[in-house]
Amino acid sequence: MRFLSTRRRNPAAKPLLLLLALVLVGSAYALISPSASSSADSNVSSQVAAGKAIFETNCSSCHGMNGEGTSQAPSLAGVGAASVDFQMGSGRMPMARPEAQAPAKATDFTSEEISQVAAYVASLAPGPEIPSSDQYSTAGLTAEQLARGGELFRTNCSACHNIEGRGGALPNGSYAPSLMKTSGKHIYEAMRTGPQQMPVFAKGTMTDQDVKEIIGYLNTTHAQPSDGGFALGGLGPVSEGLWAWVIGIGACVLVAIWLARKGARSR
Ligand code: HEC
Ligand code: HEC
Repeated sequence: MRFLSTRRRNPAAKPLLLLLALVLVGSAYALISPSASSSADSNVSSQVAAGKAIFETNCSSCHGMNGEGTSQAPSLAGVGAASVDFQMGSGRMPMARPEAQAPAKATDFTSEEISQVAAYVASLAPGPEIPSSDQYSTAGLTAEQLARGGELFRTNCSACHNIEGRGGALPNGSYAPSLMKTSGKHIYEAMRTGPQQMPVFAKGTMTDQDVKEIIGYLNTTHAQPSDGGFALGGLGPVSEGLWAWVIGIGACVLVAIWLARKGARSR
């Protein structure tokens, strides 16, 4: 009987042991993980808190105390860190006064402050994130891929920004700015967030690879004037001929002077 009962208890002991093991692992995990995640959490929350403070002094008069929007400016819930990084990084925000279109200009904020405000706005609702440099780097693009970037640009962007990205006026009195000096990061962010009348080009329609090719195309187009040796004022063969002439005549004059002095001495 005794023997039988232990044999009968044995099968129940196995699940019990398993349960004990689970509890042990669980509490060990609970001991380790909160310290790791809470330090990450407090990092994020101190960023968000610092961003909120900057936001309240510089942005809330138009966008509302909690970024909910006012009659002056739209809600920022869901616009994402990328939108803030673009708007503040390009000097558009904070807008000086309510107007139709905020011009791009040098920003007074440090990149640290901008990322704090971006973290705060991202905490309101999820939206497009700030890209990492490998998402917009154009390193290693082939000539074929750059040509494809040109095609994508002509199809999707040139109607507003001009065929070479030099910018243009829009029908309602606003303008699409020149892209001659825009950084790859801002091009990426503008495409993902669509400022003002510009449409949003989400990852579903334009992959990161497509965006890179467009950036690469714009970079090569805008770098072209200084591509081939000395620009010499950009006048091409004529000015190069002129220089050859000036230097050539100069050399002849020097030889003539030298000959004249030699002749004078020998007399
Ligand atoms: C004088 C009012 C004003 C102030 C101050 C201001 N904004 Fe704006 N903001 C606007 C208006 C108007 C728009 C919409 C028009 C536009 O996008 O140019 C806007 C648009 C934006 C957008 C784009 C939203 C989108 O849909 O992608 C962001 C992001 C933004 N503001 C962030 C900020 C931040 C951050 C600050 C403070 C550093 C700030 N703004 C200060 C008026 C203001
Ligand atoms: C319907 C017209 C329109 C189209 C199409 C369009 N954009 Fe724009 N884009 C604009 C306007 C308007 C602005 C200025 C927004 C502002 O000032 O807030 C802008 C701004 C930008 C900026 C910011 C420039 C700066 O100096 O900070 C970039 C970069 C940009 N666009 C790239 C593109 C690319 C790349 C495409 C194609 C994939 C494209 N845009 C398609 C209208 C357009």
